[in-house]
Amino acid sequence: MVYQLGIIGGGVMGEALLSRLIAQGIYAPQQVIVSDPVPARGEVLRSRYGVTATTDNAQACQAEIILLAIKPQILSQLARQLAMVAIPPHSLILSILAGVPLARLAELFPQQPIIRVMPNTPATVGAGMTAIAPNAQVTPQQQAQAETIFQAVGEVVQVPEASMDAVTGLSGSGPAFVALMVEALADGGVAAGLPRATAQQLAIQTVLGTAQLLKERNLHPAQLKDQVTSPGGTTIAGVNALEQQGFRGAVMAAVLAAYGRSQTLGQ
Ligand SMILES: NC(=O)c1ccc[n+]([C@@H]2O[C@H](COP(=O)([O-])OP(=O)(O)OC[C@H]3O[C@@H](n4cnc5c(N)ncnc54)[C@H](OP(=O)(O)O)[C@@H]3O)[C@@H](O)[C@H]2O)c1
Repeated sequence: MVYQLGIIGGGVMGEALLSRLIAQGIYAPQQVIVSDPVPARGEVLRSRYGVTATTDNAQACQAEIILLAIKPQILSQLARQLAMVAIPPHSLILSILAGVPLARLAELFPQQPIIRVMPNTPATVGAGMTAIAPNAQVTPQQQAQAETIFQAVGEVVQVPEASMDAVTGLSGSGPAFVALMVEALADGGVAAGLPRATAQQLAIQTVLGTAQLLKERNLHPAQLKDQVTSPGGTTIAGVNALEQQGFRGAVMAAVLAAYGRSQTLGQ
């Protein structure tokens, strides 16, 4: 049996992708094999999605597309396991391993077309932002296949590999920055007398709705800000307070700090 998709590592991200690829009919269950070292985990994935599960990574590596969804620190161990395994020469390697460069992946899979992929945590609820960077062996058809796979969990953009650290700093680390913003909004609401649960609901929906409005109306953020700041009103008073606290500089510094850290970890 030649599987179309082999997923190595049936953890959080592996399952997030698997669940949507099956639900959206992008792959039929019988076209997918997942390998994970824990048989009970494979059993869970088999019963939920009807896919084939194995503990043998070599078997999953016979697929046309091989998705590496293990933790980066497991990569050397995986390479040792696969050292004697013949991978079909045109099988595409998709790696979502944070911080692992194409050059390192090419050392381990010298014959293969490889795409380095950086998804983010909202992919687990289908609202991810994924950047992909292919190596020179990847065909346009394989790139389109990769885009289809990651569009199952959100949006996809292609970037040169040199931009992956910047992507990590923005969309990779961004969910944590936005979560802090949501928490701070809710804390502000509580400070102003709202019950915690109400404040949390207001904060989450405000962030979600604002992002949706910006996206659907294709507005520049400054346009939206101008639309909601009436002269002498409440919102401009809040914007003024944020500017005095250096809010935008702080957020930019956060992205740059994460970018710098990603560069350091990748060396
Ligand atoms: N989660 C995210 O939001 C996110 C975002 C961007 C990128 N990523 C990347 O996605 C990758 C996976 O992250 P994750 O959050 O899904 O991690 P995870 O939940 O720990 O999943 C990894 C899975 O791989 C299994 N595994 C361990 N050793 C293995 C081996 N030798 N062969 C096959 N499978 C093995 C693990 O089993 P055990 O649990 O039994 O060890 C686990 O089920 C990471 O490289 C990470 O950098 C994740």
